[in-house]
Parts: sequence; structure tokens; C-alpha cells
Amino acid sequence: GAVPYRERNIVLIGFMGAGKTTIGKVLAAKLSREFIDVDELISTERGMPVTEIFRTFGEEAFRRMEKEYIGELCFQKQDAVLSLGGGAFLKEDTRELCMANAAVILMDIPWEQWKMRLPLIRDSRPILQNKTDEEIQALYESRQAIYQRHHFRVDAGSQTPEAAAQEIADWL
Ligand code: S3P
Repeated sequence: GAVPYRERNIVLIGFMGAGKTTIGKVLAAKLSREFIDVDELISTERGMPVTEIFRTFGEEAFRRMEKEYIGELCFQKQDAVLSLGGGAFLKEDTRELCMANAAVILMDIPWEQWKMRLPLIRDSRPILQNKTDEEIQALYESRQAIYQRHHFRVDAGSQTPEAAAQEIADWL
């Protein structure tokens, strides 16, 4: 079905700390749409933080939960702004579901800019814990392939969240 992008839910993807949540909130306010942070929704519904879900059930179980919640949201909502966890697109099902039903927008940030944000987010992301800077860079690079599945990209490294949100609103 060729539903125009502006009539779909908006799905924000990109690496941890790229600004999905920050830009998503600004964008939702700008468009008068509902904003949903999928990680936050999962931790509220499961009654434990994402870090604990990882620790207790493992990454693969968390990826399956993400797929379920994202799938449900895509069908329950019509014009929401959804911020996805940075690893959600590792699952092909999740990628294809979003590409077919939502407007998928990549928050793109070059490594040189991203690495300056690392100290701010390191402790709150289970996937970054116990990794060296080199291992984190390798993870960043290996993730770039999954982020190539999108409809529109914005530079989230060198402009304000307000400017990035405006670019998305203009594109829609
Ligand atoms: C993850 C990103 C996190 C969260 C989890 C795993 C990842 O979300 O889902 O810690 O594998 O990239 P953010 O991208 O919102 O930090």
C-alpha cells in the first residue's frame, strides 16, 4: 500500500546517543503528535530497566520484545513519533515492518562527533559496558549497515535538535 509518509507513524533510528529521543520529542511537539520512546515503554511494561532486562533475559530476548512492541505500535498508532532503541534494526523483521508501515528516519552522526558523547552515555547502556573504545568503534561501524534501511536521514551531529526536527518536518 502506498500510504504517503506524512500519513504514517514516524520511526526514528540511529546509534545510541545520536539524539533519537531528544529530536523525537521536539519533532512530536512541532507536529502535535504523540511521542513514544520504545525503550521506556518496554521498561515500564516489564517493570524493569532495559539494563536489567538484558542482564536477566539476555539480548536476544530483548530484541524479540522490541519487535513485538514496535509491531503493535505500528498498527495501534497512526501518527505517533516512535524512538527506537539503537539495536532494534538488527532484526530484519523489525526493519522490514517499519519500512513497509512507517516513515523511517535515520539520526546520522559521524564517529568523530559521536565519540565526544561517549562519556555521557557509557554507564547507562548495557551494550557499552565492559567494552574498550576500540570495541565500541567497531560496534558503531558494524551498525552502519542496518541503518542504511531508512527513508530519510538527518545529520544529528552538527546541528541542534530543533534544526534536525525542522528538517524532518519539512521533508514530510
Ligand atoms: C541498544 C540501544 C539502547 C537500548 C539498549 C540496546 C543498542 O537504546 O535499546 O541499551 O543495542 O544499540 P538507545 O539507542 O535509545 O540508547
